[in-house]
Amino acid sequence: MAIIHDDPGRRRFLSQAVMGFGLLFGMGLLGLRFVQFLVPTGTTKRNVPVLLGVEQSLPLNDAITMELGNHKLLVLRTNEGVAAFSRRCTDLGCLVSWDKRREQFICPCHQGIYDKQGRNIAGPPPRPLDRYEVVNRAGQVYVNLAT
Ligand code: FES
Repeated sequence: MAIIHDDPGRRRFLSQAVMGFGLLFGMGLLGLRFVQFLVPTGTTKRNVPVLLGVEQSLPLNDAITMELGNHKLLVLRTNEGVAAFSRRCTDLGCLVSWDKRREQFICPCHQGIYDKQGRNIAGPPPRPLDRYEVVNRAGQVYVNLAT
């Protein structure tokens, strides 16, 4: 027959050791989060406009495709100015193209159609194309990819 030793001092020591370890672990995590808050990781997006070109060199009422980093763009110049849209369809992400004759952006996957302001006007796309901020500085056109 086994004898069970019920030592209250030993039990108290183990209980305090477990609680102390949990407290230290929690404080360590909290300290780590505080250090991460104080020291930026460098993954923040930079808000630097990228030069697209001289406005007059962009074709009027036609869109050109561009790839800047991992951004796929359609840049459209009309009489209202220059607009830059993401090529990613807001339905399932296929790449839209500009149809010059219809003056519309067309998605080949499910026939989504957007007007020249990027508004979804037919098909399954649930919202307009994502649009990037365009800045015109003395005829030089820049796009802000951080938006
Ligand atoms: S992915 Fe463009 S309409 Fe479906």
